[in-house]
Amino acid sequence: MRSSVVLAATGLFTPPHAISNDELVGAYNAWVGRWNDQHASQIAAGEVEAKQPSSSEFIEKASGIRSRFVMDRSGILDVTRMAPRLPRRGNDELSILAEMSVVACEDALARAGRTAADVDAVIVACSNLQRAYPAIAVEVQHALGVRGFGFDMNVACSSATFGLRAAADMITAGSARAILVVNPEICSAHLNFKDRDCHFIFGDVATAMLLEHADIPREKPVFEILGARLETSFSNNIRNNLGFLNRAESADDAELLARMTAPDTDLLFVQEGRKVFKDIIPMVSRMIVAHMDELRIEKLDRMWLHQANLNMNRLIATKVLGHEPSAEEAPVVLDRFANTSSAGSVIALHLHHEDLAPGAIGLLCSFGAGYSAGTVFLRRTAS
Ligand code: COA
Repeated sequence: MRSSVVLAATGLFTPPHAISNDELVGAYNAWVGRWNDQHASQIAAGEVEAKQPSSSEFIEKASGIRSRFVMDRSGILDVTRMAPRLPRRGNDELSILAEMSVVACEDALARAGRTAADVDAVIVACSNLQRAYPAIAVEVQHALGVRGFGFDMNVACSSATFGLRAAADMITAGSARAILVVNPEICSAHLNFKDRDCHFIFGDVATAMLLEHADIPREKPVFEILGARLETSFSNNIRNNLGFLNRAESADDAELLARMTAPDTDLLFVQEGRKVFKDIIPMVSRMIVAHMDELRIEKLDRMWLHQANLNMNRLIATKVLGHEPSAEEAPVVLDRFANTSSAGSVIALHLHHEDLAPGAIGLLCSFGAGYSAGTVFLRRTAS
């Protein structure tokens, strides 16, 4: 793949609403108060445990998150609901994932000085697809006016790096010359806002990457893709059991609704955060170092790491660099955006690359459910 494919530009869609930790904790604690009142006699009888309040201090210390962008605020902060309100759209309307994707793709195209006519394919790579078919990518392709083809893929938090590798391989093989890889993530819709352990983790966003064959003429600086490595290793520590068989396995709709809205539902995101932390750090740092050795990279100028946990990123970067990373070496967007699944590392790249000199080398790195991890080394060009 060396130097035959470039990352020509990235694009970003930021949702219109934000929720601070204090606002989120306020809603969660109000819900806890109601739940404890409703279960007062069972709590007094020792049949169920009282729910404990959440705290902004814990959230910031344990994760580094201060705020998150969301597609809907009111439903999340409504203590009688605790979930975003995203009304279903008609079949003749653009779907919400496609709408976010189109904005991110148009941003990437404009930055690269390209139009839809310059693109051959669209890959939508994200954690949660809102329907089975037709593929969101085909809808995005249609909305943008791209000829060629589109398809969806999901590797949870690693979807962007896996999508990039798939696109780069197709460009190298000659299946396409330019491909948009887009990561629309409405993580708030798969987050359990009634779960104290994780109610603060996620936010919504969409990112796009335009990959092109290196021999296409261009005037702007881009990133050469030096190599992309992918790895998966099965784990139950991050899981979401929502799927098309849930309704079939449920006795009736009331039972399914009760299961979907229960505070401990498995039909939303669930994780063993501590175990993930311990497993991922060695897996990812080993992978980065091995990939650097393979590519004979001795100096790394920037690490655009998956944005799930600030402490985890510090530890990974320290293992790789041999010292605590500076804000320039490992930029953080998690504080403002929270965990945006596959999009997180791409947001970091999008917002923190302009200052890199020609020849500078950066790492785009994802990790998450599966487990899955991807490392992509990029070199800044002069033009
Ligand atoms: N508010 C206040 N206290 C809380 C809390 C909250 N919202 N949630 C948990 N706590 C408490 C726990 O009850 C526990 O209390 P105890 O020590 O008295 O038992 C304590 O804080 C520590 O809980 P723990 O779950 O061990 O916290 P943690 O330090 O592991 O941080 C995560 C939790 C989720 C932030 C962290 O584990 C993490 O980010 N892991 C990596 C996850 C990841 O990358 N996932 C990928 C997702 S795509």
